[in-house]
Parts: sequence; structure tokens; C-alpha cells
Amino acid sequence: MYRKLTKAIIPVAGLGTRFLPATKAIPKEMLTVVDKPLIQYIVHEAAQAGITDIILITHSSKNAIENHFDTHYELESKLLESAKHDRLDAIADITPPGVNLISIRQPEALGLGHAILCASHVVAPDEPFAVLLPDVLMYHPQQGCLAQMAEYYKQVHTSVVALEQVPSDQVDKYGIAAVKDADLRIVDLVEKPTPEEAPSNLSVVGRYIFTPRLMQLLKSTKPGKGGEIQLTDAMADLLNEQVMFGFEFKGGKSYDCGDKQGFLEANVEYALRDPQLGSSFHTYLSSLDLTELKPKKSK
Ligand code: UTP
Repeated sequence: MYRKLTKAIIPVAGLGTRFLPATKAIPKEMLTVVDKPLIQYIVHEAAQAGITDIILITHSSKNAIENHFDTHYELESKLLESAKHDRLDAIADITPPGVNLISIRQPEALGLGHAILCASHVVAPDEPFAVLLPDVLMYHPQQGCLAQMAEYYKQVHTSVVALEQVPSDQVDKYGIAAVKDADLRIVDLVEKPTPEEAPSNLSVVGRYIFTPRLMQLLKSTKPGKGGEIQLTDAMADLLNEQVMFGFEFKGGKSYDCGDKQGFLEANVEYALRDPQLGSSFHTYLSSLDLTELKPKKSK
């Protein structure tokens, strides 16, 4: 039965080890791209798709995320007193209007599938839900990736998974989907295959809309690779029962900010697009002598 999509799960309980030492005391999701933490972009992408309840799956070390979306009375009254209206504006819509944020602790980092399962008591048994991975930034000047997927979900009434082409020699870094037909019906999912094993070069990119059945299947998903409860395993079970479509994000660009290179690329490109910074940052980048700037040999 079709139900409107209003809930999204954002798992933020991982330890972010690829960004150490930066993420020792600061959540990875609070690292900034230009002037906003990653998580703020993700929450706004969800809101644009019509999501009204965002469930953060979190950890005791991640309180800064909840604080970021909470009111800071002292700061607001100081800015108001000193008539710093532009700075007030910068914090006014951190939580998009009409959006509730719900935090649930994941007691142990037992995998992405387990993190999603931690939200099972706030997603009704007949309710679809979205999942957004916060380290993937999806830039679009108008309609974000999840909003595009939500439109498609309204037509197909079944699970929709964002897919993206990756170079064939890099398939071993991603979950890869085997698809059939022009409508990208997913027939198989392979976690980090070798280029020889890979059924395609379409990788799963961190945006999903699932039918309620996925949550039920997660409840019986056994620990898989690395002893973790893997989302991919529950998705493979879902494929045996229901149609699942791949979806290629149109007119935008994704950045893998869970990785240093992708994070730096996002910062450079978001800064170049920024209405205030873009022009001077462009001048600065054009002035760089790249022959001078080379990695220093480590001792
Ligand atoms: P990652 O595999 O990127 O893990 O998880 P990580 O810990 O964030 O980062 P690295 O690899 O150590 O640098 C993908 C997403 O799933 C969440 C993470 O927070 C991230 O958003 N996750 C993963 C959980 O919430 N709980 C888990 O048990 C595992």
C-alpha cells in the first residue's frame, strides 16, 4: 500500500576514522564545507524532499550535532542586541521550518544496517522511509537528489536507490548494482567487487527510499562482512521479494566527503559557486603557481 514519504533516517554514529585526527573530538558530520557543517546540507536536502521527521542515529560523542540544530538563546540575543542581522540570518534556518529532529542512540557501532534498525520503533510498520548518508554531499542548484527520488517514488511506489557511474577501475570501493532495462531495475547488489567481478559500474551513492518491508528484513539480517549488520544484505533480501529501482541524479554533482580528496573537492567547488566568495576565490585559485605547490617528501 502506498503511503506518503515523510520520514528520513540519517545515521551519524560511525567513528569517522578516515578523518583522524580532526574527528577525534569533533563529529565527522560537523566538518564544514565553506561555512556549513556537512549535516546541515543533508538535513536541508531531506526537508526539500518533503521530509518532516528526521531521525538521527547518533552516539555519545556526537552531541555537537544535536546542539547545532538547537536554539542558542545567548548567541541570538547578543546578535540581536548588536543588530548583527546578517549573522542572525545565518543561524535562523539551520533547522528547516516544519522539520522535527529526533535523536536515537546506537548503543554500539554494529553496522549501517543496525543503525537503521535503531529507528524501527519510530517508523510505523506500514511506513516508507528515506536513508541519507551524511558523508555524501549532493549539489544541485534547484531540486536536490532526494527530492528528485521522492518524485519518482510517487510514480513507482517501490524502493528507489540512487546510483552513479564510477570509473571501472574504482568499483572495488563501492556497492555496485546489477541493473536490467532502461528503467534501471536492480537485480543484484555486490559489495566492493573487483573490476572483473563487477556486474556494472553503477555504484550505490548514499540516498535511498525504502518500502516498510526493508525494516522488517533488517530485523532478521545476520551479521555479515566485518561482523556488522549490513544494509546491503537486507537490500539483497528485499530484491527477492519486491521490485527496486535505481535512480540517476540529474543536473547535479555528488561529493564523497567521507574521503579527504572528495571533501577538499567539495570545499573548492562550493566556494567557487558561493555568491559572496566565488569571484575572489576564483581569482585566488587562478593566481596559484601549481609548479611551486608540490607535496613535500616525508622524512
Ligand atoms: P562509514 O563506513 O563511512 O563509517 O559509515 P564512519 O565510521 O562514519 O567513517 P570511517 O570509515 O571510520 O572514516 C557510513 C555511515 O553509516 C554510519 C556512519 O556514521 C556513516 O554516516 N554508521 C556506520 C552508523 O551510524 N553506525 C554504524 O554502526 C556504522
